[in-house]
Amino acid sequence: MTFMELAKSRYSVRGFSDAPVEEEKLAAILEAGRIAPTACNNQPQHIYVAKSADAIAKLRTISPCTYNSNLILIVCYDTAVQAAHFGEQDASIVCTHMMLEAWEQGVGSCWVGMFNAEELVKAFDLPENIRPIALLPLGYAAEGVQPAPLHTAYRDYAATITEL
Ligand SMILES: Cc1cc2nc3c(=O)[nH]c(=O)nc-3n(C[C@H](O)[C@H](O)[C@H](O)COP(=O)(O)O)c2cc1C
Repeated sequence: MTFMELAKSRYSVRGFSDAPVEEEKLAAILEAGRIAPTACNNQPQHIYVAKSADAIAKLRTISPCTYNSNLILIVCYDTAVQAAHFGEQDASIVCTHMMLEAWEQGVGSCWVGMFNAEELVKAFDLPENIRPIALLPLGYAAEGVQPAPLHTAYRDYAATITEL
């Protein structure tokens, strides 16, 4: 699969089966996040891998968008490690790397910004310097799950690209 094939075929999976993600695939996904570019190469990302029944149950109350996943990455950055104010941008690139690597491994995901960050910090007793920016539920699409219509609702070239 070329990069463009990967980028075009990936879609937000919003319904996961119970089939577990293999450990080696999870390791590859996490590695893609570990090696992502970050400002000044400070690497402020911190990924919490939620896989216990207890952690998953908590996340299901904290976000309406966990889609029955049993493996959810909590993508964060560390304010004590970030360069200047770039932690959020760094963590976003990390999340993108993991989302695309997941798809290369045949694993679906959905970037989830809709969660209660305050509740999450409290529920997992995260240190004050750790800021969650996204959840990334992972897994295999449940039967019948299809890309949402928005997946291919691209704005025109001219609306998003200006040649100077
Ligand atoms: C920053 C960000 C936040 C998002 N938050 C959510 C979310 O909370 N829930 C959800 O179902 N999808 C969420 N998405 C997924 C987008 O809705 C989705 O990527 C977009 O509609 C394009 O569809 P596609 O991923 O299938 O190509 C988010 C995506 C991004 C990049």
